[in-house]
Amino acid sequence: MSAAPHSVGAVLALPGVRRFWAAIALSSLGDWVGLLALTALANELAGADYADRNFAIGGVLLLRVLPALLIGPLGGYLADHLDRRWVLVVGDVLRAAIFVTIPIVGTLPWLFAATVLVETVNAVWLPTKDATIPDLVPPLRLEAANRLVLATTYGSALPAAVLFTALSAATEALSAVAPWAPDSSADVALYANALSFALSALLLASLGSALPAGSAVPPEQRVGVLRAVVDGWSYVARTPLVRGLVAGVVGAFAAGGVVIGLARVYVDEMGAGDPGYGVLFGAVFAGLGVGMWRGPRLLRGVSRRRLFGLALAAAGGVLVGLSLVADMVLAVVFSLLLGGCAGVAWITGYTLLGLEVPEHLRGRTFALVQSLVRLVLSLVLAVAPLLAALVGQHRVSITDDAGLTFGGVQLAFCVAGLLAVGAGLASFRSMDDRPGVSVAAELRDSRSEPGTYAAAGLFIALEGGEGAGKSTQARLLAEALTGDGSAGGPEVVLTREPGDTRVGRSLRAILLDPDTGALSPRTETLLYAADKAEHVARVVRPALERGAVVITDRYVDSTLAYQGAGRALRVDEVEQVARWATEQLRPHLTVFLDLPAADGLRRALPAGGPDRLEQEPVDFHERVRGHFRALAAADPEHYLVVDAARPPAEVAAAVLQRVGPLVEARL
Ligand code: TMP
Repeated sequence: MSAAPHSVGAVLALPGVRRFWAAIALSSLGDWVGLLALTALANELAGADYADRNFAIGGVLLLRVLPALLIGPLGGYLADHLDRRWVLVVGDVLRAAIFVTIPIVGTLPWLFAATVLVETVNAVWLPTKDATIPDLVPPLRLEAANRLVLATTYGSALPAAVLFTALSAATEALSAVAPWAPDSSADVALYANALSFALSALLLASLGSALPAGSAVPPEQRVGVLRAVVDGWSYVARTPLVRGLVAGVVGAFAAGGVVIGLARVYVDEMGAGDPGYGVLFGAVFAGLGVGMWRGPRLLRGVSRRRLFGLALAAAGGVLVGLSLVADMVLAVVFSLLLGGCAGVAWITGYTLLGLEVPEHLRGRTFALVQSLVRLVLSLVLAVAPLLAALVGQHRVSITDDAGLTFGGVQLAFCVAGLLAVGAGLASFRSMDDRPGVSVAAELRDSRSEPGTYAAAGLFIALEGGEGAGKSTQARLLAEALTGDGSAGGPEVVLTREPGDTRVGRSLRAILLDPDTGALSPRTETLLYAADKAEHVARVVRPALERGAVVITDRYVDSTLAYQGAGRALRVDEVEQVARWATEQLRPHLTVFLDLPAADGLRRALPAGGPDRLEQEPVDFHERVRGHFRALAAADPEHYLVVDAARPPAEVAAAVLQRVGPLVEARL
């Protein structure tokens, strides 16, 4: 059995991922140490004047944001068109080289110029990195991989601060005893930083063919820079799901920016000063970390598309709450919650983008997100304090000694929070893939056992109502995967439930023969479960252990839909029985062929008259269909829904498009 999809260990066990991750860790560490060292050096080089020093530090910060704004789109274009392996390695080498020159030249203008150069490299390197991850890990593990990468990128700020402090202390100690040693800790940090980029380049180079080579855009699809950039943007604008995701991710940052921009004044109003500021900041980041790291796991089984909007709306709600509290302890609690919700929204948005955006547009999409985030952050950071100052502070008295102080800061929090709630609800509505299923029911269901996935082989289930064409599609898929039968193809085992074992055949006869008559729904459930137990133990598992592709025509979802929703037994109880029978084994992918029940029943019309289940009325079969749809919507990573009314060849092509990469990734 392989590890659960949330396991970060399983991501690291994939070939090449460990080294890729180590390279990202090193370059992120470099990025943070670089920021600290550059601001420290700017401070040193600017001389003694207070205003000059502030100006120099502000200049470094501004120059880190501006280039990405201006050249971001070009960066996205290059990320999609240049050889990705080359970009990743050379980008690190360039950054190492630029950082080395900063202390050697040792002037403020060069420091500014070098900052712009580093950010220019980043504008290509960062989207290339983001777009490469979905190529390195199978879709099942993308969320865990994103958690790992985001946690590493932002989590390395802390070790970077420690490293910077340690380097400063070591430099001081060394220069006291050895006069030849460099006496500027910023210089030492910059050299260390260059070293970490160089090491990252070495690691990436050593990955060789594990990294995707060549450009993401095939040569025949190349167009001019402007066209490509506009194509990328119009793809985002045209595709409702991606548009909603981009808007949501940017909105989450805007809300965060309001808090960051106003936190200093906010804590002052509560009389908490610098330490309070530090605590509040720490709380937001701790919440972000926990949200990103634990959130997806805690909320497993909740549809990712719904989760995104929900988390965003929740973050907005918390921000509104924050505007109403005037107590430091409560403010910390709300900040933790705010960070947590934003963390869940962020990781979910990133993962959905990786899953939804096709490979040749991914670089541009991630670059667009990064540019927009920076643009919105700079705007919010500049405008929020101004607005807050304009509004000023007002006190609303309730009685003589009780009242509410409500000022510009609170108003800004409140407005930003309401906007985030609105954006979250809008994205929930537009992306809702489980209409009719209440969020509470989904949360409750999501607590159930996640099941296990076979470590070897590939397990695919086809599900659907009567006459949906499962058997035809199962056969077509098996034929497509076997190819012309020449050497090298995977072993493909085509099987079905009920009835693909000796006992199963007898069970099938009992279950489907109209002469059996009415069975107690529980008896029916147990007979189907017995067939499943035999099927998994004798056919499915041995084949998977041989490394085969197993394609089953119906599996556990059929009993959840037919006996659970159809016969109106409690689905969670039916599920327990079926999962026990199959030892929790889940398909890597379930293909649901969707068709209105009446059409399917008409199509099915068997020669010998309808079997025992086909005799059920249409509304029984509509309940079955509704449940299949809900199962698929709850877990898009493991389901593919295909409109079964389309011609069989088109359905087969859609199935193969999703299964092909899985076969490649797993076998
Ligand atoms: P089929 O394989 O020809 O589609 O027929 C199987 C019938 O059995 C179909 O009506 C669905 C029903 N069924 C259940 O009710 N529960 C189950 O667990 C399975 C596998 C099938």
